[in-house]
Amino acid sequence: MKKKIVVTGGTGYIGSHTSVELIEEGYDVVIIDNLYNSEAVVVDGIEKITGVRPFLEVFDLCDRNRTDLFFKNNKDVAAIIHFAAFKAVGESVSKPLEYYRNNLDSLMNLLVAMQTNGISNMVFSSSCTVYGQPAKLPVTEDAPFQTALSPYGNTKQIGEEIIRDTTFSTEKIKAISLRYFNPIGAHPSALIGELPRGVPENLVPYITQTAIGLRDELRVFGTDYDTPDGSCIRDYLHVSDLAKAHVAAVKRLIDKKNRKNYEVFNLGTGKGVSVLEAIHSFEKVSGVKLKYKIKGRRQGDIVKIWADPSLANRELGWETVYSLDDCMKSAWEWEKQIRKHN
Ligand code: WQD
Repeated sequence: MKKKIVVTGGTGYIGSHTSVELIEEGYDVVIIDNLYNSEAVVVDGIEKITGVRPFLEVFDLCDRNRTDLFFKNNKDVAAIIHFAAFKAVGESVSKPLEYYRNNLDSLMNLLVAMQTNGISNMVFSSSCTVYGQPAKLPVTEDAPFQTALSPYGNTKQIGEEIIRDTTFSTEKIKAISLRYFNPIGAHPSALIGELPRGVPENLVPYITQTAIGLRDELRVFGTDYDTPDGSCIRDYLHVSDLAKAHVAAVKRLIDKKNRKNYEVFNLGTGKGVSVLEAIHSFEKVSGVKLKYKIKGRRQGDIVKIWADPSLANRELGWETVYSLDDCMKSAWEWEKQIRKHN
């Protein structure tokens, strides 16, 4: 019997890539998504890649009765991977209550439904944003949380704390939080990828949209930082690499290989890359000269952060395989693919 995995937010960017990897590893995937920030056609892309169409349940996890009902009818769920959340940092500053309510109500509703229906395993989508600017680099999982710079970041910190306290109070629920660094790129088939609504906040979609002519120029937010070339440093990893870590985490929980009821892993390459290096990698693999201008610093930006991924390497048996150039190439292929139809 195939093990049933619920992927909340499964039509989103990371959720769709994870659904692909789960199906390819022989899991039965059920997606729950309210399609607030994604499209149902993503399921077609997943089916084209894998030959299997995951089941899509459209509802809002903030609806407690609907959530309870779903899990009452699906007590055989082996694990939940919880991606569904609002994720725009800037928007969260102007709409804090919407962010707290959406991201935390949905999480608590899921945890209650797990308790009520005897579902044991959860993998939570967390973020390196919980570290703020770490004092020590590369950053390890035991680095302290720092005051979040946005309500969005705060929902990830509070979300982790809610899960930690819940797993502490009951042996019946086990969880793994995965702290992502900067996921970029798209599936090598170019059948699924990131679909940012409106003007992208993140670097790579902004680069590809500028290169395709949708944006006039990229603004580089500051080259006067204390870094080798003056621009900020991040740990960019390919979304398909990231997706595979979720399969490993689910397997660890199902096989009861976890060492504690609640575990946390950094997911990154371990390598820091500057904004200018990212631009140059894009230009090299795409053959497109990117129009960009050096601008002032963006408020709230972390100067430099990259992961120590050795715990995930060791415990999950996971490491990244795609290079920065591979990431940029796949992001570019995806951008060209979506613009063909629009
Ligand atoms: C990367 C670098 C910018 C756009 C995001 C989320 C955060 C967390 C990690 C999820 C920075 C620079 C960007 C542009 C630029 N994710 N940049 N011009 O800042 O690491 O944060 O990923 O939880 O919450 O917000 O990623 O892609 O926005 O920026 O120069 O037009 O690119 O200043 O140095 P960031 P990003």
